[in-house]
Parts: sequence; C-alpha cells; structure tokens
Amino acid sequence: MAGRFFVFDGIDGCGKSTQIAMAARRLTGEGYDVVSTREPGGTPIAEKIRSIILSPDNQEMVPECELLLYGAARGQHVREKIAPALARGTIVLCDRFDLATFAYQGYGRSIPLELLKRISAIATGGRTPDLTFIFDIPVATAFRRLSAMNKTHDRLEREDVSFFTRVADGFRTLAAEDPAHIVLLDAEQSAEELGETVYSRMIPLIKTEPQGSGFRRPKPNSLQSNSL
Ligand code: TMP
Repeated sequence: MAGRFFVFDGIDGCGKSTQIAMAARRLTGEGYDVVSTREPGGTPIAEKIRSIILSPDNQEMVPECELLLYGAARGQHVREKIAPALARGTIVLCDRFDLATFAYQGYGRSIPLELLKRISAIATGGRTPDLTFIFDIPVATAFRRLSAMNKTHDRLEREDVSFFTRVADGFRTLAAEDPAHIVLLDAEQSAEELGETVYSRMIPLIKTEPQGSGFRRPKPNSLQSNSL
C-alpha cells in the first residue's frame, strides 16, 4: 500500500465538503502532496456520469440504473485517479465513496446489501479507504442547510425526509459495524472543532510510513507543489 486514502461522507448538507477543503489546506500547508476528489465524479468520464445521475430531468431513473451508474463512475475514478495518486504516495481526500452506496442505495433505496457489496467489489477493485469520516447531523438540520443554500436541488436532494432518515440511520449502523475504519462525528460541532478531530485521526496514519511505498514525508519548513 502507498499513500493514504481518506473519505468524507454523510447525508447531503452535513458539511463534509467544507471539512475536505479545510483538511486539504492544512495538510498542503504542512508540505504533504494532497489530491482532493469526489464521487460520483473526479475524472471527465465520471463527471459526465454524475450529471446523468443527478439531473432532475431523470426522474424516471430506477434504483438499479442509479446503482450501476454510481458503480460505473467509481470504477473509472479508482483506476484513473485514486489508485495512481496513492501509488505516487499522495494523500487522497475523497468526498464520498462506497459507504455512500451502502447508505443511499442500500438503506435509502432498499437494495440488498449483499448485492451492493458484490457490485462495490467490481467498482473499487478491492481498494478500501484507510479511514472514512461520517459527518452525522439530524435530518432536520440537513434540510435547513440545504434550503438555505438557495440553489437548484439535484435529483437526490429532492428526496423526502423519510428517505434521508433511512440514509442517516444507515450511515450510523455502518459506522457501528466497523469502528476501526469508520469514524462517526457529531457534525453539529463547529467546523473548527470538527477539523481538529479529523486532523488528529488522520495524522497518525499519515506519519506511519507504509513499508517500501515511496510515501513522501514533507520536507521540514518547505512547501511542495501539490498539483497532480
Ligand atoms: P454530493 O452532493 O455529496 O456530491 O453527492 C451526490 C449525491 O449522490 C448525494 O445525494 C449522495 C448520492 N450518492 C449516492 O446515492 N450513492 C453513492 O454511491 C454516492 C457516491 C453518492
């Protein structure tokens, strides 16, 4: 294994994107090579798939089509961007990954988890995050934040309270089942407090150099280029 792979997830409006930006800024400032990316998306092909999945025009999309499109986007993203970045020893910060499929398509859309795991294995090729952070907020708070954003809601964001309640409960269940790899965080704390917790969980893993990986430590008091 090389590099480090961290995923930020949770229901829409949970604040994960702010946390990724904060973590990327801090780690970059410390001299680490960091790539921030997202799912669905992260590469030109996967971004095209994203626009099909999320378009409010595609109301007739069935859960099986949705599931396979998320899987297709992930299959491309892992092989084109995530795996090469990790092989170079980069820290990858990813906005959502396979846990989102289990929570949204599994708990939200009621597709059996066993089926999802088989599809996920194809999509990820067995690549698993070092740590996934779940930003947990009450569904009512998420709805308030989303409506305050004053933007056109995508197809998923138009789902109702009961859908998001199932998804949020799903994330909590998944976190409880795998505490070694999934960190459930109370996302009603301030962004600064959350950022500290996230950083304190990431940094011991970052500082543990995987054997023979080419993992790059920062040079003391120097900033490196962080572009891909
Ligand atoms: P985003 O708004 O956080 O970028 O994510 C896009 C939407 O896609 C969001 O509503 C969550 C949903 N989603 C799934 O339903 N399954 C998945 O596997 C992923 C990655 C996202």
